[in-house]
Amino acid sequence: MDRRILAALDKAPATVVLLNGPDLRYAWMNELFHKLFPRIKVDDRFGTQTPQAMQFRALAERVFETGDPAILNEVEAELPDGRGHVFFNLLLHPVSDDKGRIDGVAIIGTDVTAVVTGRRALDAQAERTRQAESRLTALLERGPFSVVSFDVAGRVLFSAGAQVAQLGLSPGETMFEHYRDDPGILAALRRAVAGETFSAMLPRPNERIGEVHFTPVRGEDGRVDQVVAVGIDVTARLRAQEERARIQEKMLQTQKLESLGVLAGGIAHDFNNLLTVIQGNAAVALARLPVGHALREPIDDIVGAAHRAADLTRQMLAYSGRGRFEIRPLDLRQHVREIGNLLRSSIPKKVSLRIDEPPYLPTVQGDPSQIHQVLMNLVLNAAEAIDQREGEVTVGLGEEEVGADGGGDLVGRERLPEGRYVRLTVSDTGVGMDEKVRARIFDPFFTTKSTGRGLGLAAVLGIVRGHGGALRIDSAPGRGTKFDVLLPAAGARAYPARSGEPSAARGKGTILVIDDAEHVRVATARLLSAMGYDVLEAADGEQGAEIFRLRAGRVDAVVLDLTMPHLSGEETLALLRAIDPRVRVVFFSGFAENELAERLDPLKPAAVLHKPFTRQQLAAALETALA
Ligand SMILES: Nc1ncnc2c1ncn2[C@@H]1O[C@H](COP(=O)(O)OP(=O)(O)OP(=O)(O)O)[C@@H](O)[C@H]1O
Ligand SMILES: [Mg+2]
Repeated sequence: MDRRILAALDKAPATVVLLNGPDLRYAWMNELFHKLFPRIKVDDRFGTQTPQAMQFRALAERVFETGDPAILNEVEAELPDGRGHVFFNLLLHPVSDDKGRIDGVAIIGTDVTAVVTGRRALDAQAERTRQAESRLTALLERGPFSVVSFDVAGRVLFSAGAQVAQLGLSPGETMFEHYRDDPGILAALRRAVAGETFSAMLPRPNERIGEVHFTPVRGEDGRVDQVVAVGIDVTARLRAQEERARIQEKMLQTQKLESLGVLAGGIAHDFNNLLTVIQGNAAVALARLPVGHALREPIDDIVGAAHRAADLTRQMLAYSGRGRFEIRPLDLRQHVREIGNLLRSSIPKKVSLRIDEPPYLPTVQGDPSQIHQVLMNLVLNAAEAIDQREGEVTVGLGEEEVGADGGGDLVGRERLPEGRYVRLTVSDTGVGMDEKVRARIFDPFFTTKSTGRGLGLAAVLGIVRGHGGALRIDSAPGRGTKFDVLLPAAGARAYPARSGEPSAARGKGTILVIDDAEHVRVATARLLSAMGYDVLEAADGEQGAEIFRLRAGRVDAVVLDLTMPHLSGEETLALLRAIDPRVRVVFFSGFAENELAERLDPLKPAAVLHKPFTRQQLAAALETALA
């Protein structure tokens, strides 16, 4: 070969080797090859050193035999002595002698290590980017948030996230166009484009709410050139907050009712004591005045006024759910039937009244006059809601099993204990109520009627609560109203009704009156002695027990107040029974909770008197006790 060519090849920036003869021995190699593979010498057989080299040898043999050149790109070769890898693009080319016969193979290798490693690094980088991107997209698609960026004209530049699809932006539509009918969102977009960074609660499709953070991005000239809006779906969080607020409101309502009850109960207790004094002393005075005496009329008026005042305390107690109850088992069907006619005559002709009653209904423990009051108030309200138009009021009865949910959305109680309830439903086809009215209807004195007092539903609520029940309301403007009253079905025994017919009989025997309230005690003692009894008085339980012990066997009955300081009525009774188990006791109390019956029942009093009581009631109670 031309020496000048060989000299040039020797310095070439590629490896060049010439292999000679059919067994392919190295005939020549250039400098670069020698530098990379210093141990390979002229006359060595090509491709015997490593398995990889043996592959090349096979290829070179084929080039030698066929005369077709071969190209191998990016062949990796290991350098000896731990010098690492290089990548070559190889050209294997046949070499011919003067006569044109192939007598060798030339192999030229260009080192492409830098290209290959560079490209591999780029590929790896690209792969990492792709993975990161797909993680980000997955996050955006699955997460409850979305990202949208748009320019100052509202053109969307970038968007991602499942929520974005729901926005329903059509291609090419600007944000301003898309939200042209939504002043709230439009205002937010304008603020953001004007350069303000802020968050806003904005409505989303499907009644969801998004909290959207707007961040304007400024260009080099300092002007806003795009806005990034990141929205997070906060519907669940808001709903939970609302639910908490609703429960709190309910608790407040219940507490309000309870404190009102305590207040009304307290006032009524003192008031009833005072009325007992007034009624008792007036009755004593009347008894002593001869028929036709000039003072009889004014004293009669006092008695009448005291009766009306007692009615007032009864109402006050009804509102607070601690009304005086004459508790007995009631069949509401019979009750509704009995007052059906009265109800019909109380409502306008155009309003029809329907009564739906089931063939079987459990009884409830209730006070008939209070249940009457509940029905009247609900039916009158229903008829008034229909007013002068045509319409229908339905009174329905049924049974309901209250389970773990406590009876649903109730008024008067957060939840009802599980069990069986009787349901009284009063529904109408009237005007219905909006949410604002609905929230206040049970407040005393709340009314929307010019002549209304606003006490009807307050009393209903008090009575229903006092009966251990609750209410449910369904109402909407124009759709009418439905009130459900739920009362516990009776399984418990009935407490006997209070005193029977007034008695005129004159009393005989010794009665011990124990009450800490002096006026009440004195008035009661006076009434008793006016009836002919011998009377002893004690100001508290201890004193009472002492007198009872000293007069052992000579006290025929004890009239005992239930609420006293130090020893209560129950404790005093225990003392008295310890002295004489056959002691006959008449309890009296200013309170008349419906639990009173249960509280007294185990004590087996001979009779119970509710303050204020009349002379006749006192006489009847003692008659029962002494019988
Ligand atoms: N069935 C009903 N349909 C529509 N609104 C009703 C219904 N029942 C009650 N309301 C609303 O509740 C308010 C309070 O009722 P409530 O019975 O306590 O008082 P009132 O009927 O206004 O006066 P009153 O003390 O004479 O009963 C009513 O003024 C009315 O706005
Ligand atoms: Mg009313």
